[in-house]
Amino acid sequence: MSKNFDVIVIGAGPGGYIAAIRAAQLGFAVACIDEWKNEKGGPAPGGTCTNVGCIPSKALLQSSEHFEHAGHSFADHGIGLTNLSIDVAKMLGRKNTVVKQNNDGILFLFKKNKITFFHGRGAFGKAVDGGYEIVVGDEVLVGKQVIVATGSNARPLPGTPFDEEMVLSNDGALRIPAVPRKMGLIGSGVIGLEMGSVWRRLGADVTVLEALPTFLGAVDEQIAKEAHKAFTKQGLKIELGVKVGDIKVGKKSVTVAYTDAKGGAQELVVDKLIVSIGRVPNTIGLGAENVGLKLDERGAIVVDELCKTNLPGVWAVGDVVRGPMLAHKAEEEGVAVAERIAGQHSHVNFNTIPWVIYTSPEIAWVGQTEQQLKAAGRAYKAGTFPFLANGRARALGDTTGMVKFLADAATDEILGVHIVGPMASELIAEAVVAMEFKASSEDIARICHAHPSLSEATKEAALAVDKRTLNF
Ligand code: FAD
Ligand code: NAI
Repeated sequence: MSKNFDVIVIGAGPGGYIAAIRAAQLGFAVACIDEWKNEKGGPAPGGTCTNVGCIPSKALLQSSEHFEHAGHSFADHGIGLTNLSIDVAKMLGRKNTVVKQNNDGILFLFKKNKITFFHGRGAFGKAVDGGYEIVVGDEVLVGKQVIVATGSNARPLPGTPFDEEMVLSNDGALRIPAVPRKMGLIGSGVIGLEMGSVWRRLGADVTVLEALPTFLGAVDEQIAKEAHKAFTKQGLKIELGVKVGDIKVGKKSVTVAYTDAKGGAQELVVDKLIVSIGRVPNTIGLGAENVGLKLDERGAIVVDELCKTNLPGVWAVGDVVRGPMLAHKAEEEGVAVAERIAGQHSHVNFNTIPWVIYTSPEIAWVGQTEQQLKAAGRAYKAGTFPFLANGRARALGDTTGMVKFLADAATDEILGVHIVGPMASELIAEAVVAMEFKASSEDIARICHAHPSLSEATKEAALAVDKRTLNF
């Protein structure tokens, strides 16, 4: 006997579980299927984000930042410490607890919203009258509407598979049992910088090898330059413009042969190698071929701007479709799709999706970069304000970086806001709201911001667009 649902969601990452909750709120009978297992084989909903992504990486970033502060900046505050040590097993245990709290939270939300959860792999069986058969283990479900939110997997280097012992994806990078003496990372993108920071702070000698000649090419150049300066000062070795060659994986070390930017042959020998060169959409075992669900050449599910696939009643959201691979993007798409199924006209504004890199200093931005505006020939005004001139940043003892505003030269509409510095991840929210409301830089400049707060740097950067900063 099949079980019938209005909406079946495949995948319980941020795209899937949020879509399921919104669909249930709208009155639909909803099933959500997820195959992730915890170490006891039980369900661990939350996807990459909760299990091996956003949440555990931020837990380790926090622990390692505490360690770095204790070792390097407590003394400035007059706080003395002797015999500082790090218990990596305890740190990883705390991270695991944080992950479990999130897994349990999602299971609770499924119950609260009367969503039927199935633990296992969901695959398309066939199209049936008025919907689709989805097979989970021995069970056959029928959904009038199906939302696919199967996420993404780490991309390995050709010829060097992840063994999660010596060559690590994000999964292994989040559970290294002891601080490696020497660590290599391939790819200085978001994961490379976040994971590199964690293990560097804990004492590893970290080298990052990046193929592109520019550092953080998608980030505003001025901000990327400032970040590069800060990371280098901290001791993170970042080599740009390299070509990675042969990789030899031994029992105790990994040897990476590469050509440096000047064409010189180099070799890097490390205890652990993290490969963070991007992620690939995941449709493994989904049975897309059983129903003719269209994928592109990268394996992503092809969708239109509304997340509709080529099949009527089948939608796809999150990392498995085009667009930035971000948890909050997946969530927004999940909500919008559930609402569209209910006949609503929801919209996701791709121009106001914020990006955050949780290093220290943090990097956050929304909207367009200066190089994008130049390339588009758009007339703009720029204003920057350094945290060095912000009272709260001085009191915190963290004055690296700046806030930068880019506004239209004629209308003053904010086109982009870029931050490198303390709590950039929180500060960017104001810029997102401003851009959603099509605010001008003058609007932000005239809003009262609490003193002393880091947000005053945002106000001052807005004032700087019109060359009238008050504190710099
Ligand atoms: P996923 O989270 O990947 O979830 C997909 C789920 O579907 C998984 O549970 C999977 O097991 C399940 N699944 C797949 N196929 C099937 C099937 N056939 N049947 C049943 N279940 C299936 N983003 C941010 O916004 N902020 C961050 O700070 C951040 N940090 C990150 C750190 C790291 C180390 C990594 C790797 C990623 C990070 N991301 C971050 C990206 C973020 O994790 C993803 O964008 C997000 O998880 C995508 O959500 P999703 O729902 O599309 O897919
Ligand atoms: P990424 O796309 O951010 O960075 C990959 C980097 O590897 C790029 O700089 C690329 O030029 C480089 N690269 C590619 N091939 C290479 C090669 N052969 N040799 C050397 N360098 C090479 O991908 P990453 O870091 O793997 O992260 C994947 C995605 O996960 C991110 O794009 C992001 O969407 C998401 N994520 C988000 C986070 C956040 O929001 N804070 C944190 C971590 C991941």
